[in-house]
Amino acid sequence: MSNIWRKKPISAFEADMKKSELKRVLGKWSLTSIGIGAIIGGGIFVLTGTAAHYHAGPALALSFIVAGIACIFAALCYAEFSSILPVEGSAYAYAYGTVGEIFAWIIGWGLILEYAMGAMTVAVSWSGYFNKLLKLFGIQLPSYLTNDPFSAGELSINLPAFIIVWVITYILVKGIKEAANTNNIIVILKVSAVLFVIIVGAFCVVPENWVPFIPEPAMVKGESGKMHEAYGVMGIFGGAAAIFFAYIGFDAVSTQAGEATNPKKDLPFAIIASLLICTALYVMVSLVLTGMINYKDITGEALKAPVAAAFEKAGKPWAVFIITTAATVGLISVMLVMMLGQTRIFLGMSKDGLLPQFFREIHPTFKTPYKSTILVGTVVSCVAAFTPITLLGDMTSFGTLFAFAMVCGGVWLLRVNEPNLERGFKVPALPLIALAGIATNLFLIINLNRLAQILATAWLLLGILVYFFYSKKHSNLERA
Ligand code: ALA
Repeated sequence: MSNIWRKKPISAFEADMKKSELKRVLGKWSLTSIGIGAIIGGGIFVLTGTAAHYHAGPALALSFIVAGIACIFAALCYAEFSSILPVEGSAYAYAYGTVGEIFAWIIGWGLILEYAMGAMTVAVSWSGYFNKLLKLFGIQLPSYLTNDPFSAGELSINLPAFIIVWVITYILVKGIKEAANTNNIIVILKVSAVLFVIIVGAFCVVPENWVPFIPEPAMVKGESGKMHEAYGVMGIFGGAAAIFFAYIGFDAVSTQAGEATNPKKDLPFAIIASLLICTALYVMVSLVLTGMINYKDITGEALKAPVAAAFEKAGKPWAVFIITTAATVGLISVMLVMMLGQTRIFLGMSKDGLLPQFFREIHPTFKTPYKSTILVGTVVSCVAAFTPITLLGDMTSFGTLFAFAMVCGGVWLLRVNEPNLERGFKVPALPLIALAGIATNLFLIINLNRLAQILATAWLLLGILVYFFYSKKHSNLERA
């Protein structure tokens, strides 16, 4: 039993890095763009409404700052780890080098919630935006082609979600350069759209909507019909948990270590830069949004598309077209990076023997883990097409926060155990930052939806079974 805590030696990581067959083509800005590609997605265009109306009011901007700070603690810790262990597995690998095998396995298993499940939920939201876009052009697909059978109550398939996942799978199999180029184009488009929202929106702000900036605390009936305390200082925190999903993605940069030209320096840069850029954009969008439309008026349909609703109210319906297009295109890169991250984490786990050989088979020409990519594409496309996955979006946040908390703890542990390792980047003020990271991330986990908490815990318990029945016996360390 004691060997479930065995650690992978740093020298073994170094040996793996030397043997890597992946192509090293990603520079500092491509990596930053991968971070932004994963971060800016549906979250900013959708969750802002719920968070303002039900939790924070105009202080939504402060919620974004709070969630941004929670993320920056984790980002700094990811940055230090990635400068020591620039390997594909991200948080999984970091845990393997510091805490021990079983914990690493559970983190890797939990990351499936972030990446694969994240890609599924985003695929379904993408389908929603795509249909909205088609409607703007007067095209309406029948409901049996745009819904899963459970939501539609009849034989049906979410065809747009299914197809987009396969388009992405194709790009990912073709090569990392192709994937990075596609991502770069999408990032330029979506950052332009967000800047558009900020600049045009700024001229439509009615400053009275910001008064009072932090509304008096009040009991409010939430979306689920239950009463909860909203506004005031606690409302800012509630809002932070509600919009946390919008920040997910910067950590995906760390899964690209095997494909970075200079991982030890560029990964820390890209993780922190992508997070700071997005935080600044998010704070500005939320200020503009709550200035354009009073948080009390974000109800009904406006809750589903608050940014678009704000522009409609300001008499700029054409802006709706730009926002819908931006979200439709923007979400493609979120899925792209999430599926990319998932296959690289599987690759890391397979190299260590914890997953079968299948996950580390590299295509001879494209140099990508093609079998695993196709498997991930199959699972993500089928779940997105046939199940009501959107209900479980909070599970993505659970998997992410869980990994964040571990990375924060791991960095501190490694500093104590291996103080002399070469570190390209060092987290300032340890253990304070690590402790603050663990506390904020656990706090956000507690604030997630109860059903998601139960299902995610069940998922982790299933992972423990898989570990004892398969992974432990096949681990390279077991053979060694
Ligand atoms: N941060 C990503 C989004 O908001 C997951 O869609």
